[in-house]
Amino acid sequence: MAKLPSYLAMRVPLLDLGEQYRALNEPIREAIDEVLASHRFILGPKVQAFEKSIAAYCNVPHAVGVSSGTDALLAILMALGIGPGDAVITTPYTFFATAGCIARVGARPLFVDIDPETHNIRPSAVQEYVEKNCQADSGGAWRTKNGERLRAIVAVHLFGLSCEMDALHEISERFQLDLIEDAAQAIGAEFPFGGTTAKAGTMGEVGFFSFYPSKNLGAAGDAGMIICRDETLARKLRTFREHGMEPRYFHHVIGGNFRLDEIQAAILGVKLPFLEKWAAARRAAADFYGAEFARARLTERITPTAEPYRARGLTNHHVYHQYVIRAPMRDALREHLGEREIETAIYYPLGLHEQKCFAYLGYKKGDFPETERAARETLALPIYPEISRAAQRYVVDSIAEFYRLQPANQPKMT
Ligand SMILES: Cc1ncc(COP(=O)(O)O)c(C=O)c1O
Repeated sequence: MAKLPSYLAMRVPLLDLGEQYRALNEPIREAIDEVLASHRFILGPKVQAFEKSIAAYCNVPHAVGVSSGTDALLAILMALGIGPGDAVITTPYTFFATAGCIARVGARPLFVDIDPETHNIRPSAVQEYVEKNCQADSGGAWRTKNGERLRAIVAVHLFGLSCEMDALHEISERFQLDLIEDAAQAIGAEFPFGGTTAKAGTMGEVGFFSFYPSKNLGAAGDAGMIICRDETLARKLRTFREHGMEPRYFHHVIGGNFRLDEIQAAILGVKLPFLEKWAAARRAAADFYGAEFARARLTERITPTAEPYRARGLTNHHVYHQYVIRAPMRDALREHLGEREIETAIYYPLGLHEQKCFAYLGYKKGDFPETERAARETLALPIYPEISRAAQRYVVDSIAEFYRLQPANQPKMT
């Protein structure tokens, strides 16, 4: 078949925050003006109010505002006393910060491969890793072959889909590990946990969110939040976020400047009430992609985002921070879409085990085949609450056009 007619062309960004900010322009400006008039710029009433709102939204007693998702994880690791001589299990298929923070506190990141359907760490692989490579010492602590003490699992809810937290929770209990949830991309995502429905970030000891501007709940700069149930841990986190200071100018521990500022908290406080509506709109857009892929007979070619918890009676079974497909000839497809002015992204082009800065960990290419395959095959398509159906149809038609232009009998996956 011929190419798409040129009158169909339109520019489709990966993310467009324009409509969101236009709609909320007035209340956001008012909230910022209040902060300017108050002269309280850091850890003031807006931060306290936003912490309360997030705690209520997540149904947890404690929320601690911090300067970013990265600083959230750094503060968590510090507050849990994780450092040199310790090892922490996580996924190699995530944003750098997850493993970067583990290394920054002096602990060793231990990678375990992902489930190719969900792109999240595979619980059975975690269990297998510990059983094969670690041993309990006389005190009952689990140690790696190098003698490092196994301390925690950092579960990353990638792209807005919760990890299998029931299985990870069981494993963490069995091996006495802290279960930390990197929910940077997954605020509001749900999972059927312990006979009820729980939100991402609330199922382990402690969890955190990033409010980086492109996140589902985005600030106008950097910001983050830690949530937990344990009061002692919450108190520690508040101390670590301010240089370990308690009381003022008395330092028993070394923390950092991980404070959240008032302007960001004010903006986020205005936006939070709309989060569920935006999540529903992202879900509707994801459903539309699914229907359009079927209409364009693309399901033989590409693999749409998996929705493993869809049938489990959850509302936010996925919050679609990203809509990620697997596509044969991914790079050529991306180039084709770029020529059609459709923005896409690759999250992530290289597993963390292959990053230069982690060469000292001793991993090599081939160690995590599913991560490496995902790095070759995944492509994030435009998704945001206000994306138009016309724009989505244009994306799908452009993908179909690409494959029509390819020789027949291409395999489903590269
Ligand atoms: C999975 C994951 N972890 C951690 C972070 C770090 O968050 P921030 O950018 O707010 O520091 C991000 C941010 O992109 C992320 O996607």
